[in-house]
Amino acid sequence: MSDRIHLSTSDESLLRLRWLAILHGRVNLTLAATGGVHGYEDTVKMLLAGADVVHMASCLLRHGPARLSEILAGLRRWMEEREYQSVAQLKGSMSQRSLARPDAVCRANYVGMIDRYEAPAGVWR
Ligand SMILES: Cc1cc2nc3c(=O)[nH]c(=O)nc-3n(C[C@H](O)[C@H](O)[C@H](O)COP(=O)(O)O)c2cc1C
Repeated sequence: MSDRIHLSTSDESLLRLRWLAILHGRVNLTLAATGGVHGYEDTVKMLLAGADVVHMASCLLRHGPARLSEILAGLRRWMEEREYQSVAQLKGSMSQRSLARPDAVCRANYVGMIDRYEAPAGVWR
């Protein structure tokens, strides 16, 4: 057993994100996201997928409690830029239930990510 604390990274949020998007609107439960939330971007994604509440542990251990104000400011800015009036308005709006064609959104997201991918120097000749 390791005596070192394992702090998460944002990568760990992906599985949570997927399950939130699947569960939102299908179960009569409050959904809490925990694991891999490190910035306002992770927070936005969890809320869009359908989280009612977002937890953070590793992020605060790594950056300190002041990080919460930064995340809140980032979330507020993101919402203002897209003219969201409230968190309730964005909550679950990208869940499977909310999308007419979740498969198409998934595919477009995947294609976009591949498109933006930049291989490390020397990988492509
Ligand atoms: C140092 C540390 C101590 C933790 N202690 C507990 C605990 O006592 N009980 C518990 O249910 N979860 C505990 N957790 C788990 C967190 O509540 C959280 O579920 C987990 O860390 C995933 O979120 P994160 O990616 O924000 O760290 C702990 C996590 C860390 C990093």
